[in-house]
Amino acid sequence: MPTEDNSYIMLSTDPTGVQNSGHQYLSSPTNSLDNRSPNQELLPLTAKVNSRDCLEIGGCDVTTLVEQFGSPLYILDEATLRTACQQYRDALARYYPGEFLVLYASKAWNCLAICAIAASEGLGIDVVSGGELYTAKTAGVSADKLYFHGNNKSIAELDLGIESGCTIVVDNWLELQNLADMTSTAKPIRIMLRTTPGIECHTHDYIRTGHLDNKFGFDPNDLDKVFAFISQHQTLNCIGLHAHIGSQIFERQPHKDLAGVLVDYWSKAKSYDLPIQELNVGGGLGIRYIESDDPPSIDAWVKGVCEALVAACEEQQLPLPKLLCEPGRSIVGPACITAYTIGSRKIVPGIRTYLAVDGGMSDNPRPITYQSMYRVVVANRMSAPLKETVTLAGKHCESGDILIQETTLPQTEPGDIVTVMGTGAYNYSMASNYNRVPRPAAVLVHKGEAHLILERETYQDLIRQDRLPQRLTA
Ligand SMILES: Cc1ncc(COP(=O)(O)O)c(C=O)c1O
Repeated sequence: MPTEDNSYIMLSTDPTGVQNSGHQYLSSPTNSLDNRSPNQELLPLTAKVNSRDCLEIGGCDVTTLVEQFGSPLYILDEATLRTACQQYRDALARYYPGEFLVLYASKAWNCLAICAIAASEGLGIDVVSGGELYTAKTAGVSADKLYFHGNNKSIAELDLGIESGCTIVVDNWLELQNLADMTSTAKPIRIMLRTTPGIECHTHDYIRTGHLDNKFGFDPNDLDKVFAFISQHQTLNCIGLHAHIGSQIFERQPHKDLAGVLVDYWSKAKSYDLPIQELNVGGGLGIRYIESDDPPSIDAWVKGVCEALVAACEEQQLPLPKLLCEPGRSIVGPACITAYTIGSRKIVPGIRTYLAVDGGMSDNPRPITYQSMYRVVVANRMSAPLKETVTLAGKHCESGDILIQETTLPQTEPGDIVTVMGTGAYNYSMASNYNRVPRPAAVLVHKGEAHLILERETYQDLIRQDRLPQRLTA
């Protein structure tokens, strides 16, 4: 079963130490970038150990990056990010005989640079708020490739969506009614309908969204009424149906079933004469965070979806729709590592050694939120033998602020650089300023060059929105 649970595996200590040092997470250098699926790797595809025994990503020494840009630091590998985009695109071209579009689910990490890279790879962008829409538009994503999700979009957000010309993925009756009212005297807008397909996935409860008892999407039992409503409103141009069944999924069957369910809904819509031509199977493909995680490759996942959709359309004697999917985690998750500096150590004799780093739940809330597991290497001691089992703790005032419950590391000192792997998805995008800790910087690395894509927040940034009523000033 996939893994957002509490179990973890212990690394056995090899007597030479080498086998279980940071090298163990590197793929064979003989494999080219193209024949590895980023979501099946622990480290970004360009990871290497250099002659200084330091980890290199995108041709940049991680310890040098930390000296230059500070710590903690998100390090995003452009080659891994682009490879994931290309693998989705290429697999769809290979296995789907109809039109298709891959949308990057930018909730995983929405910022100008990542939206621009995804768009330059031919991907569209899925956004879920006015803020994400604004960012994607500013990054230059064209309106015909922007899809606007959300289960409670405000009128202002709907206005922004209409004005931008993007496709609005309508989630519920209130939104449908609002859009009908807002466009009654305007030109038609493109909408899709989000449905709840009733498919359960074996994943963490908090991120399960496909079953019927869930806040997203129209109940399938309401679809006839919804189709009838839309057919009476000339300005609602319903071009597609959408469903998303969960995240960090390792099985292929749920998405294959989903393709069939969406085709069933589509066939129901036929009698209402709606211009539906797009079916969107959402995102959800999992990634490898720890050794025992075993997600299908991007290629295998896409193949399964395409075959199921083609078969369902043949069975229902329907033409092939334009196929959309919207992966987030599997696009950006494996492309990033977070570098931290080791600080204090607390030994609880006979029980545990806590090793604290200069970040934690504010830059990576997944361990405390979902009990998610990660792997780590000491970037400046990649070949050092593994010596001790430690708990990697964050710096926040919260006992649960633990990044890794148990990991075996070489002997470390304050100032050493540890890097947590697979931190591209739902880390920066879920980051907070808890304890008024500024959010880290992020750099994009490629062919030996590093570019800042997100500035480190300053203390000044932290109080930028604070207001001090005059009567409180001395
Ligand atoms: C509607 C929708 N689409 C796509 C995604 C992306 O999912 P993932 O990051 O698992 O690919 C999500 C995330 O939960 C989502 O809610």
